[in-house]
Amino acid sequence: MCGIIGYIGKNKAVPYLIRGLEHLEYRGYDSSGIAVSQGGEVITVKASGRISDLKSKLAGIELTAKCGIGHTRWATHGEPDDINSHPHSSMSGLFTVVHNGIIENYLPLKKELLGQGFTFKSSTDTEVIANLLEKYYEGDVLSALSKCRRVLEGSYALCIICRDFPDTLYGVRKGSPLHCALKRTESFFASDTVALLPYTREIFTLGEGETAVMKKGKITFYGSDGAETEKKAERVNLPEQTADKGDFPHFMLKEIYEQPQVLRKTLSALVRDGELLPELSELKKSFFALQKICFVGCGSAYHAGLAGKILMERIGNITCVAETASEFRYGNTPLDGKTLCIFISQSGETADTLAALMKAKEKKAKTLSVINVRGSTMAGESDNVIYTEAGTEIAVATTKAYTAQLMALYLFALCFAHERWQIKRSERDRLLSQLSQLPEKVQSIIDRRDRAELFSSLFDRRQEGWFIGRGSDYASAMEGSLKMKEISYINTGAYPAGELKHGTISLLERGTPVVALCCEERLFPKTFANIKEVKARGARVLILAQKKSSQALTDEENVFLLPDTEDEFAGLLQAVALQLISYFTALKRGCDIDKPKNLAKSVTVE
Ligand code: G6P
Repeated sequence: MCGIIGYIGKNKAVPYLIRGLEHLEYRGYDSSGIAVSQGGEVITVKASGRISDLKSKLAGIELTAKCGIGHTRWATHGEPDDINSHPHSSMSGLFTVVHNGIIENYLPLKKELLGQGFTFKSSTDTEVIANLLEKYYEGDVLSALSKCRRVLEGSYALCIICRDFPDTLYGVRKGSPLHCALKRTESFFASDTVALLPYTREIFTLGEGETAVMKKGKITFYGSDGAETEKKAERVNLPEQTADKGDFPHFMLKEIYEQPQVLRKTLSALVRDGELLPELSELKKSFFALQKICFVGCGSAYHAGLAGKILMERIGNITCVAETASEFRYGNTPLDGKTLCIFISQSGETADTLAALMKAKEKKAKTLSVINVRGSTMAGESDNVIYTEAGTEIAVATTKAYTAQLMALYLFALCFAHERWQIKRSERDRLLSQLSQLPEKVQSIIDRRDRAELFSSLFDRRQEGWFIGRGSDYASAMEGSLKMKEISYINTGAYPAGELKHGTISLLERGTPVVALCCEERLFPKTFANIKEVKARGARVLILAQKKSSQALTDEENVFLLPDTEDEFAGLLQAVALQLISYFTALKRGCDIDKPKNLAKSVTVE
């Protein structure tokens, strides 16, 4: 989703801004732009489309400025065209702004400003901020900013240039992340630490309502009350994202291949000397008193939560709910001190998941987040954090971060069930040993990518398809269907296999591809009967099952056999097979696999 970069230093700003935008590209965007302070003016160049389009526009312009801001925009208010792209300037050009987030009361504010004679060029909420700053400005930018903040409702990370102070950048945030960094005589703003890592690992993260005033090699911080504050940089120990696909044609395929290693790393980080999740020692003390667990996330992270809920209910013997964050945040799920809310998020910045976390904290529920990005807002806000070790994920459609989330949730369920005396130590160890075999089993699926490629022919010429399963297979069906929709634009649906006959089956046409997930052995005969029902009506069925079920499938035409594991853990193996099938389907359809249209990697608006 939207990304911000700012640079002020001894060198020309434009190459730094472009490099920063390229690092933010993976988040998903549909236009980009930059603005620099040069010769007493602010020069803005923006373009819809890719950063390469912006570069083409910049090619003929001599920009020597050493201070500037840049933005990648994922359209919310107004089409993704040149005019609506950021940066946006105030009516007279005094203020130029890039913005992540949404100003919820921008319409009444715009109406008021129009009535006061201000003019607007774009349909964005951001232009309101630029004009508000101009309205409140009386020579002191910080004072104008503070007045502006008092009237803005919604979320924002802002990076601002004021024409009167060409050697200064201003940054402020509420609800959307913003980071700063220093490297000798150079200073940087970025909405994502990934864009700062090429320069330093010492990162300053702005807190809610905080402001940063940035000059060459110097940053001054102000608290939400306007008083100057001291801020310490935190060390971010992430490898620099080189945006290098190596020999892989797409980041998605590269990330699929990284999964065995990611799972091993996640396991060894979360299990130390035979102890599961040692960093949760405080939370573990509350396990006996808990009465309910809520799993909350968006997109694939929600599906991981659903899989977590199914396993936890089975071995932890506790009431669980799984909900999408956008419903949970406005819903009425009873929450109290005896509820544990588990928030799952790769980025740790997803706006709905963050809001759900804040709600749980307000209701005094215990909070635990399963996060991939260290230093993210959710990691800072949660009482407890489990980090997955997926490293930076570039492809918009998640693969390795999802399976790492599953691994973390499986481990948490084992830990909980054992600590609460629902399973014996010997059973815990047996299950743990099964988990430790998953990385090599994932590798064996990757090694059979030609099978996945073959089965993708079921989908590549179709406009619709179904994914069905029961129990934990249903959670896998949800994720398989989402992956297919995200990257290949085929309208797929996921259904509990037993529900088909209550409506959905009327949609079935000859040749409709149906992926049947059959790894729950105890439910195998039930799902198998549903397979027969859809086949009888012309469906082309692909069955994903464990090797141990192969006898029962000898007459079936399309079977992808997965290595045997605990039925409850098979979702992780299914995910890898389904990722590969979606990947090859999208490849055959000529889709933009790493950057699917309309999608963003990190969804920082509601
Ligand atoms: C976006 C991505 C999904 C992801 C979801 C949640 O919609 O396209 O792949 O699952 O956000 O993201 P999170 O960072 O919270 O896991």
